[in-house]
Amino acid sequence: MPAAQLLLLACLLGVGARTAQLRKANNQSGRCQYTFSVVSPTEASCPEQGQAMSAIQDLQRDSSAQREDLEATKARLTSLEGVLHRLTLGQVAEPSEAEQGQLDTLTREREQLETQTRELEAANSNLLRDQSVLEEEKRQLRAENEDLARRLESSSQEIERLRRGQCLQAHSSSQDMSPGAREVPRWNLENLDFQELKSELSEVPASQILARPTSGHPRSEDGDTGCGDLIWVGEPVTLRTAESITGKYGVWMRDPKPVSPYTQNTTWRIDTVGTAVRQVFEYHLISQFTQGYPSKVHVLPRPLESTGAVVYGGSLYFQGAASRTVVRYELKTESVKAQKDIPGAGYHGQFPYSWGGYTDIDLAVDETGLWVIYSTEEAKGAIVLSKLHPESLELEQTWETNIRKLSVANAFVICGTLYTVSSYSAPEATINFAYDTATESSKALSIPFKNHYKYSSMVDYNPLEKKLFAWDNFNMVTYDIRLSTM
Ligand SMILES: *[C@@H]1O[C@H](CO)[C@@H](O)[C@H](O)[C@H]1NC(C)=O
Ligand SMILES: *[C@@H]1O[C@H](CO)[C@@H](O)[C@H](O)[C@H]1NC(C)=O
Repeated sequence: MPAAQLLLLACLLGVGARTAQLRKANNQSGRCQYTFSVVSPTEASCPEQGQAMSAIQDLQRDSSAQREDLEATKARLTSLEGVLHRLTLGQVAEPSEAEQGQLDTLTREREQLETQTRELEAANSNLLRDQSVLEEEKRQLRAENEDLARRLESSSQEIERLRRGQCLQAHSSSQDMSPGAREVPRWNLENLDFQELKSELSEVPASQILARPTSGHPRSEDGDTGCGDLIWVGEPVTLRTAESITGKYGVWMRDPKPVSPYTQNTTWRIDTVGTAVRQVFEYHLISQFTQGYPSKVHVLPRPLESTGAVVYGGSLYFQGAASRTVVRYELKTESVKAQKDIPGAGYHGQFPYSWGGYTDIDLAVDETGLWVIYSTEEAKGAIVLSKLHPESLELEQTWETNIRKLSVANAFVICGTLYTVSSYSAPEATINFAYDTATESSKALSIPFKNHYKYSSMVDYNPLEKKLFAWDNFNMVTYDIRLSTM
């Protein structure tokens, strides 16, 4: 039976006792009566009109045919029962041959009916089992449906906004925009070419910013964490592709320091296209993540900005929209435990990475803890790196690098060293700079890094898995890495 029909059948059998029943009873004049009853289907319990009606008609046809058969059997049985009755009362000394034949038939038919009853009951219990499975699926489908409706709603708003944005742009296109104050509508897809072009131009002068030569090596205090210098990045492995336009950019993460009820497998995902991004999808199992079935959807108490969010020690850390505030949201209790402004940090398009997207404030986790990557007016757009206290969000220490934030596509921290990605769109990009907080010095690198889908909007390091997690043009990918051994 096709699934749709099964589902309808399950609907029809619905809640309550919808059992087909064969009853045998003595009526007052001492005769046996067989009654077969099937509760008629409740049409109102099924949603899909056309399909439902034809399935219901099929079922009604089937059941009325069955009812006719059973009526005929019942009539024969009742008349035979009369014979039996007379026999047992001794009204006839010897059954005639015809009566004996009828009796045999009666016995056979009764056995047949009993077998049919058992089969009907077994079929019915199977149906009830299928029904509960189907109801669970129905529940999931409904949840997905609601989720899709929500996304559709936000996409429609986005489209509306874009339409208005395009008009605004057309009016202001003749104005000269200075780099710091320019108003780049973040999600305007018309701007993608502009952003890509900008990255290609700004990469060239970036290498000239580096003045100080490299000196020393990363400290060896993290001996047992397997720390070292990044020396190799593998090919991207695609785990999941986003389903809709809201997933062109985004951030996905796992907790390198998981706290119950979460494990190192629990995965979170945020699609960040949109103006009021608040939904965080939680997947308890990796398979749920790769198949796209969230086990929970968090709705953040305030919208977030950027693809810089991380999960660490059971909390989600993110930049609040249109602010320099970093928020610590505890996932288990679904509540904000701390929030703090990052002093002087640019936000809302002041110092983004080269691809734009309001990526002004980027959080990171490495073997040593929680970091925030940003820039300030004071640093004139150079990357500033601060170590954050994971509970209070106090700035513990701050380093000012000489790498211009707008000139690189992304950054992450491994073993206390900041690494930058040269381009978000070039298929053959590189990890182009490293800033070591221990020696407070930068060096140029050229470690190949592939933007397989040509639009990497997020690159983070997961120190537990020792992999890079990235979001490349709708795709959630990982990269194996290799660190030097010291
Ligand atoms: C008992 O059943 C017989 C046969 O169907 C019927 O003729 C009779 O009227 C019934 N008696 C009562 C009291 O229902
Ligand atoms: C994580 O998932 C893998 C397989 O996907 C499984 O073997 C492992 O036991 C899981 N670990 C935890 C802590 O749940």
